[in-house]
Amino acid sequence: MKYLIANLKEHQSLEEAVTWINKFVNTLRANSHVIDALRSERVQVVLAPSAPFLVTFKSSVHEFPNVLLASQDVSGFMQGSYTGETGGHTLRGIVSYAIIGHSERRRYLGETNELVRTKMQNAQTANILPILCVRGSEDVLHIERGMVAYEPADAIGTGKNYPVETVEIFRKQMQLPVGIPFLYGGSVDSQNMRLYLKSPHIDGLLVGTASLDASQVNILLLGVPGGDHDGPNLSDSINVMSYDMKTNQLTTIGIPRDVWSETLHQKINAAYATGEAIDPGKGMTLAKAEVSSIVGIPIDICLVIPR
Ligand code: PGA
Repeated sequence: MKYLIANLKEHQSLEEAVTWINKFVNTLRANSHVIDALRSERVQVVLAPSAPFLVTFKSSVHEFPNVLLASQDVSGFMQGSYTGETGGHTLRGIVSYAIIGHSERRRYLGETNELVRTKMQNAQTANILPILCVRGSEDVLHIERGMVAYEPADAIGTGKNYPVETVEIFRKQMQLPVGIPFLYGGSVDSQNMRLYLKSPHIDGLLVGTASLDASQVNILLLGVPGGDHDGPNLSDSINVMSYDMKTNQLTTIGIPRDVWSETLHQKINAAYATGEAIDPGKGMTLAKAEVSSIVGIPIDICLVIPR
């Protein structure tokens, strides 16, 4: 199983958070292949919005298998008279995970490894799995449950993602107990993600900036390897837009052409070839119908944009 965590940080207003989650849900609903991947545990998605939006997000993703929530932090205090804190007692039952020890908290709020350790204990007491963020070997703590995200501070939000080999070497050095997934985070986007997900040593990704666009999250999702599909190739993709006049909703889906499996790729190409053989020019009509049946929404207009 690969893990995809969307860390939305402190970016969204209420309106933006609602728009984001609606877009995410609509896109997911329209794509049975991603739902299959979630159901068959090829991928797990974890959404980490700002704390006030957790409950709204939770009810919105309720219908999907393997789409879970994480808080972006958990208090060092479990419960009690600690104004402004959100601890394990409050988060219990809302989130499955808590991001703990993110470098932004260490940097701007002075979090130490000692506090991070307490937070991990509190999370686990509340049945919340920690996602322990480490910048490097200085942050490595003992972990028995949850996962670890290697997030070098100079890779976060800078566009300077670390090479896969460096990430793999770090994992080896960490000597994680068996069963603790190891994730990478730091300027991951839909272009570079396949490099990491192809590695058997990297179990998932923690994505910040690229997750702010809900359709990017879905593109990331569509690109998670599975079956005989090794990840996205967005230079060769089908982009579908569906406009629902009743609800005024525009849904966009980016599908790597080799979406999930070679068989689908072949099906689309075969439909095109059959159409062209019957009547030159008809290939696109049949290919369109094929894509429509794959994504589950009608396609009225089709444009081929040459590279
Ligand atoms: P980034 O953030 O994807 O914007 O680099 C990752 C993170 O901070 O978790």
